[in-house]
Amino acid sequence: MNDQAANLRRKVEAKLNPIQAKTIAVVSGKGGVGKSNFALNFCLSLAKRQKKVLLFDLDIGMGNIDVLLGRSSKYSIVDMFEKQLPIQDVMETVSDSFAYISAGSGLTDIFSWNDGQFHYFVHQYEKLTDLFDFIIFDMGAGITEGSANFLLAADEAIVVTTPEPTSLTDAYAMIKHITRKDQELPLYLLINRIPNERIGKQTAARLQRVAGQFLGKELILLGMLPDDKAVVKAVINQTPFVEKQPRTPAAKAVMETADVFLGCGIPEVWKTSSFIKKLSHFIKER
Ligand SMILES: Nc1ncnc2c1ncn2[C@@H]1O[C@H](COP(=O)(O)OP(=O)(O)O)[C@@H](O)[C@H]1O
Ligand SMILES: [Mg+2]
Repeated sequence: MNDQAANLRRKVEAKLNPIQAKTIAVVSGKGGVGKSNFALNFCLSLAKRQKKVLLFDLDIGMGNIDVLLGRSSKYSIVDMFEKQLPIQDVMETVSDSFAYISAGSGLTDIFSWNDGQFHYFVHQYEKLTDLFDFIIFDMGAGITEGSANFLLAADEAIVVTTPEPTSLTDAYAMIKHITRKDQELPLYLLINRIPNERIGKQTAARLQRVAGQFLGKELILLGMLPDDKAVVKAVINQTPFVEKQPRTPAAKAVMETADVFLGCGIPEVWKTSSFIKKLSHFIKER
């Protein structure tokens, strides 16, 4: 087949099977529970499984994906708005299968867009959905009016908590808030920093039970990560642990999580992501 025909066939196939990035928000009630470390190493684990992944740091002003990677990105998402840059320019490509967008260090609230800024964002974001299998949002702790739109527009969310009672009650509050707004949003549970498997399982079961009983919501247990000094070491050395310390318990657990996630019934050809549609709906409602 000549190049032209092959090109045409690809285009037709792309129209029939629109492979669009699935968006997943990583959230927590309390801060400091390990969201960013999990999100980053989860993305890298998916990338090791030949998925194309974009990590979008949405902890605006407080983001630290750059720091965890030991890189500095030239631009952040804030620059995309302030300098009207195309999204590809603010995206840092780390490898063939992994890229990220930095949250920047300014205090700009990108979530309180006017209509013009919103349309600009949608236009830019649409360019990304053809390039990746997964777009993962690392959200700030808790929830604000603006960030709620992003979270609720995502295709799925992963709630991260530790077994500590304070983290658990905040996780529950977050789950309650989400289910009140959208009972159908698939919610995964990730228990971080477990001292042993028994406590991890107990923690997950407790949260699953109360969510079921009081909110009528099923939480899918995605995985449990041990409290592992390899994570602290990785933070200090600014090198993700799944890359530099793949044999540590934390790294093995994150890889397992990625495998569970990929086995959770996600079709190879993902149906059109509803992210932009849902986000537009929320913004119009303001
Ligand atoms: N599984 C773990 N084992 C040991 N320490 C951890 C683990 N996960 C996170 N930490 C510690 O918690 C700190 C905060 O993690 P971070 O991912 O930045 O949290 P968040 O994004 O929720 O604020 C890390 O710098 C690290 O010291
Ligand atoms: Mg964080």
